[in-house]
Amino acid sequence: MIGNRFGVDLGADTVKIYTERLDRITEQKSMIAVRPSTGRVLAAGDAAYEMYAKTPPDIDVRTPSDKGTIADVDRAGFLMKKLLAAADERPAGKRVLYAAAPIDLSRIQKRAFSDMGELCGAQGGVILVDQPVCDARGCGIDTDATRGTILLNIGASCSILSVIVQGQTVISEMLEEGGRHMDEAIADSVRRHTNCLIGPRTAHRLKHALANTGAVRDARKTFGMDAITGTPREVIVSAEIVHEAVMPHLSHLAEAVSELWERMPPQIAENMEKQGLILSGGGARIPNTAEWFAEKTGHGAITARDYEMTTILGLREYMRAEETGAPK
Ligand SMILES: Nc1ncnc2c1ncn2[C@@H]1O[C@H](COP(=O)(O)OP(=O)(O)OP(=O)(O)O)[C@@H](O)[C@H]1O
Ligand SMILES: [Mg+2]
Repeated sequence: MIGNRFGVDLGADTVKIYTERLDRITEQKSMIAVRPSTGRVLAAGDAAYEMYAKTPPDIDVRTPSDKGTIADVDRAGFLMKKLLAAADERPAGKRVLYAAAPIDLSRIQKRAFSDMGELCGAQGGVILVDQPVCDARGCGIDTDATRGTILLNIGASCSILSVIVQGQTVISEMLEEGGRHMDEAIADSVRRHTNCLIGPRTAHRLKHALANTGAVRDARKTFGMDAITGTPREVIVSAEIVHEAVMPHLSHLAEAVSELWERMPPQIAENMEKQGLILSGGGARIPNTAEWFAEKTGHGAITARDYEMTTILGLREYMRAEETGAPK
């Protein structure tokens, strides 16, 4: 079996792939560039991201993944075919894909994963693995033993709030708040404060440079288009403008965490309290996020060590356990 198995975390921002043969994790942007008039695929992965928001209107660049599910099967299949080939250049045998996915997928959504598998040459099929359990394991939690672990994975298209008890995901809530919503809010906030229009990539960069849960005195110079004259111009964006855009999204997440904590039975809540909320996903990179969540919710919070990689690391562990026959 070893040699043909791949673990996949197909996110809306990044695709992370574990190649078992090489025991290696690689990542690329979850993007595909297509010319809709001809259906021709022009680029995939990081190369497609390079074209994102810079392309003429007749080229469509987007991710095939949305809120943990596959939004466009054909594009997801093509993207995976390219990225698997890049992850392992050896000609493919009978590939098996292990894909991290929400536990409550509909039949149609499950079907989309297997169709994607066929399209990307995974003749051995696609095995879906519970994403919150992957996350917990990637955070170093002994999932079989835990009597209450609460996790929040802040992704790009959504965030997943979950509770794991003795190896099972007992709660998994998809919250429509993620990095992309923050990017849109930053572009809005910049327009309101400066009358300048910026694209999603610029908003994304400003978020990475300036987003912080606390008040920070910093700013970045960038370029946009004057909303009135339509001409390009320089604009200075302060950390305050970014803070104002990002915080309502984090506040919604904190509210969901507080509500979840309130409805937990005392025994589970007591165990959750011991570990505190565990943050993962790219959104956990915002400085001081764990401290901010702890203050907002009144419960402890920590950022996982490999927060951006928890899902794929947990998936790798799942695959290793399956190979050795150890309990998963
Ligand atoms: N320094 C940072 N500040 C704010 N956000 C960040 C930072 N670094 C990364 N991010 C955001 O994290 C998100 C990507 O996280 P992640 O890789 O977990 O998402 P994903 O798994 O691709 O998406 P999804 O889980 O929604 O499918 C992006 O929106 C990215 O902008
Ligand atoms: Mg994700």
